[in-house]
Amino acid sequence: MKLGELVKNQKGFRLSGIYRISRFEVKTAKNGKAYGDFLVSDHSLDVPAKYWDISGELVMLLQQNVVVRVEAILDYFKEAPQLIIEGVSVPSRNEIDEALKSLGMMASQDIDEMVQELMASIAGVNNKSLREMLEYIFVANKSFAEKFKRHPGAVKNHHACIGGLLQHTLEVVKTALDYCARNGRINKDLLLAAALVHDIGKVREIDVDAFGMPVGFTKEGKLLRHIYLGMELVEQACREVAAEHELSLILKHCIYSHHGQAEWGSPVEPMILEAELLHYLDNLSAKTEQFIREEDRAEPGGFTRSYTLRRDVYRPSSDCI
Ligand SMILES: [Fe+2]
Ligand SMILES: [Fe+2]
Repeated sequence: MKLGELVKNQKGFRLSGIYRISRFEVKTAKNGKAYGDFLVSDHSLDVPAKYWDISGELVMLLQQNVVVRVEAILDYFKEAPQLIIEGVSVPSRNEIDEALKSLGMMASQDIDEMVQELMASIAGVNNKSLREMLEYIFVANKSFAEKFKRHPGAVKNHHACIGGLLQHTLEVVKTALDYCARNGRINKDLLLAAALVHDIGKVREIDVDAFGMPVGFTKEGKLLRHIYLGMELVEQACREVAAEHELSLILKHCIYSHHGQAEWGSPVEPMILEAELLHYLDNLSAKTEQFIREEDRAEPGGFTRSYTLRRDVYRPSSDCI
């Protein structure tokens, strides 16, 4: 259950779920016994919590684990919800992922499945230099590859969930492949490689919490943004595999221009067909996800205001179509 929905319940409601402990202190009660003073959080709310008569063993567990299963009873203090914790345990990685999925914090497609699709897309690049460059980024660079597969695609705008960056990347890759099949003039290897790396800088741009959910920008993300940071990663990979200068130049241009214009964060407009296509396919994936999210918020036959799309979104009533 989302913590934001707690207030719908009466005092005494029993809560059981996986949450993040965003603050934890051991304090001494008036009776001289130790108690835990917490902030239990998910993406929707931070709720103050107390654990009376806390044991040394539990203090150790909470100092070592930030994401835990919490069993608690709902109480109200000055009309605000607070939790009286009765039990805390460490969930498995699968239990955490299941909980995140049910809270809408995970990408809709399974991460392992998406990693397989990512590897198949890389294997589908025929140009040796581009394929080696992609293998260097997504396979050889293990710490980057691990972060990339669970990273969010944005702080707020679109695909802002765990695995969102991979899902968005694959959406761009798959529509790029569809488009290439319709027009033999497009350089498939260039567009495919550009689609795969266009947002890799987001791994360094977006800061995440213990769940892996976006919480804002990193220092280098704020100062340099993902287009520059992605180009640095590609530049390094191109040097590593000794890619030709012209090849590395046109690939970097695709990344540099993928937001389309200066106002949207690209210093230059696309000057290559594949760069122009990447810009539209990137936008297509982002807008589709934003519309789906807004439609899910609206009642059938009703409007919702979208601050990211800067317009109202209408959800047609389901019985008309
Ligand atoms: Fe981007
Ligand atoms: Fe993108």
